[in-house]
Amino acid sequence: MAPERPQLLDTVTALRLASERWRSAGMTVGLVPTMGALHAGHRSLVRRARAECDRIVVSIFVNPAQFGAGEDHDRYPRNVTSDLEICAVERVDAVYLPAPDEVYPPGFALRVAVVGRLTAELEGAFRPGHFEGVAVVVAKLLVATRADRAYFGQKDAQQCAVVRRLARDLDTGSRIVVCPTVRDDDGLALSSRNAYLSAAERAQALAIPRGLAAAAAAVSAGEQDAARVISIVREELAQSPLLTVDYVAVVDPENFEPVARMTRSARIQVAARIGGTRLIDTLCAGFDEVPPVPARATASAADRAAAAG
Ligand code: PAJ
Repeated sequence: MAPERPQLLDTVTALRLASERWRSAGMTVGLVPTMGALHAGHRSLVRRARAECDRIVVSIFVNPAQFGAGEDHDRYPRNVTSDLEICAVERVDAVYLPAPDEVYPPGFALRVAVVGRLTAELEGAFRPGHFEGVAVVVAKLLVATRADRAYFGQKDAQQCAVVRRLARDLDTGSRIVVCPTVRDDDGLALSSRNAYLSAAERAQALAIPRGLAAAAAAVSAGEQDAARVISIVREELAQSPLLTVDYVAVVDPENFEPVARMTRSARIQVAARIGGTRLIDTLCAGFDEVPPVPARATASAADRAAAAG
């Protein structure tokens, strides 16, 4: 039997009414914000929400406010048909699919910013304005739905910390649930942006999970010096000449302040570019599953010839 289609909502009024109706019938509401091009990472959030809430709503909106000038907003993958099929299979109750004008009507004048170091460093430094764009759209979704729980992926660990702070300081009452990173079999964290990678770029991108796995192994063998952990990751990344590293950092998971000594909760953060694609990944050596990355292939004669130019 074909799964029942989710209810399609394209106005914020329809979203608010649907959620109000559920809540007034005593049901809990779960929200999964996305930018679409849904993959198994998004699905894991939806499944968790399905298991924990009476009614769930997925939002699909490629949010222009969180893309900088020259970033990939225009070519960001969009696949609404397949997204809706996935939502039906995952028994999503409603999909909020607003047009840009619905979220940002003419004359829109609101700014929502989580200020301070949390948003100034790492992704905040490399993508100025990005977290303000995330904050405004997530704030609007939380206010409209008054969701009991909202689901986010650990892969975007700094985004999770920003959203937690936002929900707390805005008194939304929503519980922010952070779900583990889903990876491909080769260890690469799933991302809608992986679709941009050529086969050669993808092979070299594996240096990212490989670096994190090497760092985790060093930490479990007793390495406590964050600077040393950072250089272990950088050594792996340096094996991939197509990668340009934006940063490797070890931070406190709540405030994203750099830490000097590894603790169980310290988070290793990596961002790198390959071709025109920007990839980020993260690992907490004390808690997260270590990526199952195959060992680095030794350079073939063809690779050596290519490297020699
Ligand atoms: P998007 O990149 O579509 O991701 C939607 C949610 O899926 C985010 O919470 C993200 O962390 C999570 N996610 C992505 N890849 C994942 C993976 N491999 N494993 C687990 N979770 C993963 O993040 C955004 O959209 C936007 O910034 C948004 C929060 C929707 C605001 O516009």
